[in-house]
Amino acid sequence: MKKPILFLHGFPFDRRMWFTQQKFFSNLYDFHSIDLLGAGSNQKETMFTLEEMCESVEDYIQTHQLQSPILAGLSMGGYVTLRILERNNLKFSGIILMDTRSLPDSNQSKLKRTATIQKIRRSGIQEFLKEFLENAISSNSIQKNPHLRDQLIEIGTSQNSDGLISQLLAMQGRTDTSDVLPQIQIPTLLLCGEKDQITPVTEMEQIAKQIPHSQMSVVPESGHFSPLENPDFVNSTILKFLQNIGN
Ligand code: MLT
Repeated sequence: MKKPILFLHGFPFDRRMWFTQQKFFSNLYDFHSIDLLGAGSNQKETMFTLEEMCESVEDYIQTHQLQSPILAGLSMGGYVTLRILERNNLKFSGIILMDTRSLPDSNQSKLKRTATIQKIRRSGIQEFLKEFLENAISSNSIQKNPHLRDQLIEIGTSQNSDGLISQLLAMQGRTDTSDVLPQIQIPTLLLCGEKDQITPVTEMEQIAKQIPHSQMSVVPESGHFSPLENPDFVNSTILKFLQNIGN
């Protein structure tokens, strides 16, 4: 039987952001990716907390009877992953953390989120996305794949403002999950784009140091969305990790 692997997307996208991973892993693994609350097929959901985002992922795992899946989360999906581990309701065989952090929002980040909420309300998702993507993806990635920006704008603009604003509030209210890091006893892979300006390599290296059975790879020529910016590197690194841990 194929091992289940579940991917959790980042903000402000939905499960479609994993299209290259779906293509690569579907033949080898029981591939799953879900829309977090407020995104994609769940974009009608509003006014939820990060805890409820975690609950909906746990419900999915139970409903689909995924036995000890691998859980893989990028950025917001990583916040959910770490909190699910801390909640300790389910068993996992391995964890993949991509371009994410365990620390909660600082006061400065909280104010920035409020400004983002205002930007989305006043100017709309498209305007917000233009600014966000400037920071989020590296210029190399755009040169290598000029369609990437358009693909992300298409996924981002198909979201609903209330869903995105609810996710921002949920992230603003999330807790610090740093205490769970030394308690993680399952194999963990960390991946971070070498040019990630949102969750930089130095911050992810600090996380890696605290997780006992972890390994970290820096993704060349990539910003915050490393699985989309350098899918070949990310997919082959994940595959090697999964094979090494016997999955
Ligand atoms: C993401 O990619 O999910 C976001 O950048 C996370 C955040 O805004 O903290």
